[in-house]
Amino acid sequence: MSDKIKNEFLELLRSTGRDVEDMIEELESNGFMEAPASAGHHLNVAGGLVEHSLNTCKSALAIWEGMKTLNPSLEKSTPKDSVIIAALLHDVCKSDVYFRTVKQKKNKATGTWEESEGYKVSYKNFPMGHGEKSVIMILPFLELTDAEMLAIRWHMGAWSIDKSNYEEVRNYDTACKLNPLVPIIHAADMLSSHLLESGGDDEDL
Ligand SMILES: [Fe+2]
Ligand SMILES: [Fe+2]
Repeated sequence: MSDKIKNEFLELLRSTGRDVEDMIEELESNGFMEAPASAGHHLNVAGGLVEHSLNTCKSALAIWEGMKTLNPSLEKSTPKDSVIIAALLHDVCKSDVYFRTVKQKKNKATGTWEESEGYKVSYKNFPMGHGEKSVIMILPFLELTDAEMLAIRWHMGAWSIDKSNYEEVRNYDTACKLNPLVPIIHAADMLSSHLLESGGDDEDL
């Protein structure tokens, strides 16, 4: 990862004026700065997670600015620092799940199998889930508002919901209705990975 991306990430986090230094120290030591954003899809390279988090933040700010022109009440209901905090930290759960490995990869030109460096996934460090794991990992180091916790918890949107679980469906729906930050962060996560980030080896295209 380039220093430029990491510096931009840190600058944005500090721009919130919140007490983020303990959080930054934790991100420096828990693997977040070196982790990829995925094992075989978007930004599956060292530093990919920081880059994806930064892309999500830029997308979230663009959505927030755009939606404010349609609904000015957003300025008050959803402060800018909340948009930045939730977007930059939504995937902290990925800090400790990717491990370097050697994979067999088919050479498309020759049709032969070759060894290539990559990542495998293991949840053994803290098998807590996804968004909920991020919230739990952040809270010892940084205070979050309810809206920020909910936006991080539900950032996968309806994709992460067990539709047969009535309570889960109602919780997600209520979180979206009460907190504009929830759909903003979900949309930003989708837009950044689909519009700003190129695919990895496992893309089914
Ligand atoms: Fe995620
Ligand atoms: Fe994400």
